[in-house]
Amino acid sequence: MDTNFTLRGGIVMPAIGYGTYKAADGEDESHIRMALETGYRLLDTASFYGNEYLVGKAMKESGIERKDIFLTTKVWKADLGYETTLKSVECSLKRLGTDYVDLCLIHWPKPAPFADYWKELDRGSWRALEKLCRQGLIRAIGVSNFLPHHLEALIKEAEILPAVDQLELHVGYMQEAAAAYCRAHGIVLQAWSPLGRRRVMEDLSVVRMAEKYGVTAAQLLLKFLLSLDIAVIPKSSTRERMEENLNLPDFELAWEDLSFLRCLPQSGWSGEHPDLARVPV
Ligand SMILES: NC(=O)c1ccc[n+]([C@@H]2O[C@H](COP(=O)([O-])OP(=O)(O)OC[C@H]3O[C@@H](n4cnc5c(N)ncnc54)[C@H](OP(=O)(O)O)[C@@H]3O)[C@@H](O)[C@H]2O)c1
Repeated sequence: MDTNFTLRGGIVMPAIGYGTYKAADGEDESHIRMALETGYRLLDTASFYGNEYLVGKAMKESGIERKDIFLTTKVWKADLGYETTLKSVECSLKRLGTDYVDLCLIHWPKPAPFADYWKELDRGSWRALEKLCRQGLIRAIGVSNFLPHHLEALIKEAEILPAVDQLELHVGYMQEAAAAYCRAHGIVLQAWSPLGRRRVMEDLSVVRMAEKYGVTAAQLLLKFLLSLDIAVIPKSSTRERMEENLNLPDFELAWEDLSFLRCLPQSGWSGEHPDLARVPV
């Protein structure tokens, strides 16, 4: 299986990255540094995570050349709009201690689920990202948590098309409509919460199938997504689990097992949806 995805414009993105949400407590960047030591070469952060400074510190301390790390950040929903997006990226770059990011995403399509002025705000953010992309401060631009109707509105007026849509995607929450739209428009899918924050790892059919292939439940869930050409960014706070998630054994899932996992009823959903009030889980 290819360990990279190629985005629009030929930009190469690792298929497995390290998710940094809640990976750093306070001033401690050791987990992020550990992820780089383990071999991760994609770090996923966001202005909202409050850890960009620590991600920058870990990159610097690792001694790994900047060009060898694929760095993603995001513009938070409170910063949607042209000027605020320009400012948000400028601040992110300062905190990260770098002069460019590899991928910058609009984190959520709306400032609030019932806001009716989101199309204009998204358009403003996108124009800002296009400008920063042309200036070389961002190599690729994309979105997160955009469903087909959000993407359709954005694409209609875009000069540069989104390279990536980072969505909550895991067994039990496959978002088939959004995934089909992205595939049809050449947008690479990247799964956040690929392990369903552990919730789907306990599903008995997942546990049994993992046993059948002689792998862990986490490895089965990640391989499942990668087999569908979906990039993944699992988060872990131990070296052992970081290795387990990055160094997947060489195995192929049978078509019937892929189909079974793809068709399981909804489970493990985070409760977050761009157009709905948060559902407690
Ligand atoms: N774009 C968005 O709106 C959005 C939203 C949420 C997340 N994200 C991104 O996606 C990344 C990953 O998502 P996530 O952290 O929500 O969920 P996740 O990666 O599905 O799950 C993380 C949880 O699984 C555990 N875990 C990891 N590997 C394991 C293994 N091999 N065996 C057993 N348990 C394991 C971790 O525990 P330990 O830490 O104790 O190892 C942690 O509790 C985030 O860090 C963030 O970068 C993006």
